[in-house]
Amino acid sequence: MLTIRDIAREAGVSTATVSRVLNDLQSVTEETRRKVLETVNRLGYRPNGLARSLSTKRTGTMGLIISDITNPFFPEIARGVEDVLNAYGYNVILCNTDGHAEKEAAYIRLLVEKRVDGIIFASVRTDKSDLSDLDANGIPWVLAGRTLPGIDRDCVVVDNILGAYQATQHLLQLGHRRIGYVSGPFHVSVNMERLEGFRQATSGYGLNASELPIVEADFKQAGGYAAALRLLGPQSDLTALFVANDLMAIGVLEAAHDLAIQVPEDLAVVGFDDIPLAALHTIQLTTVAQPKYEIGAVAARMLLDKIDRVNTDGDRSSAKVILTPKLQVRRTSGADLSPQIGRQPATVPDAEK
Ligand code: RIB
Repeated sequence: MLTIRDIAREAGVSTATVSRVLNDLQSVTEETRRKVLETVNRLGYRPNGLARSLSTKRTGTMGLIISDITNPFFPEIARGVEDVLNAYGYNVILCNTDGHAEKEAAYIRLLVEKRVDGIIFASVRTDKSDLSDLDANGIPWVLAGRTLPGIDRDCVVVDNILGAYQATQHLLQLGHRRIGYVSGPFHVSVNMERLEGFRQATSGYGLNASELPIVEADFKQAGGYAAALRLLGPQSDLTALFVANDLMAIGVLEAAHDLAIQVPEDLAVVGFDDIPLAALHTIQLTTVAQPKYEIGAVAARMLLDKIDRVNTDGDRSSAKVILTPKLQVRRTSGADLSPQIGRQPATVPDAEK
């Protein structure tokens, strides 16, 4: 039978470190934690917590609700959630809402019926009624990658305003002034935060953000394609597009190709997420990287912590965790091109001097 010593030897760390990863939620580095959890999963080790959970009438299952299983952004989050929860003896029930609020509500009801021990979800909803239902049923929850209006706790998100600001500022520094925004659904929190970052950056350069075109789409590739066709018609004077996620940005690149618009020479494109496709040699999408695995892993640890505290009559709520995005500059923004006709010189606004 596997013991904690086997895990420590295989991972090249001390048994105390393995124990800290499995029991203490804070005091090891992220790299060590990943190494230990990877070893735990690979060898199939199950900590004693499972036996404890059975005796405390827990079901040993957690729900994970994501909004689009076809978007490569979510599997990385799911992987982070699964690695952490599996290591603590939990199984994860995956639910896909296709971005529909009704489907999300139905899945929440189902998970409540199944008496899951907790739920992690990337909400598509605009109100927090489900959260009160979960609280009333004593089921702890954490939001991952999405927030809800009025919820300033129990969620793990990237700083979307900062990420969008960095992406837009990158385009502005390259000399672009006619920049369009390909938006996700207006009711989704992260999209509105990205729009806010876009507005702050353009206003900082003295541009009237309300005069820049914004087209709402659906966070999907086909939606990005359709939005680009609307934005890049014959009358268009746009030289750049900031796109609210990478899947839509890939749709934009397809549309540009079909319209015989050269990227980045005629049109610079920046996305958001840094999904694996973005780094492909044939795509090379400049984008804002979100720490996807970490969002899932941190949300899972937060949920475990919350469950522990609920059982010891502690405070049920947790802090809001905001992770830092990182601009990943690649080919599609044309950072290595010489200044283009039609673009403004890359002047720095007074506020930045
Ligand atoms: O729902 C899709 C989008 O929401 C993802 O691409 C990611 O940006 C998330 O916040």
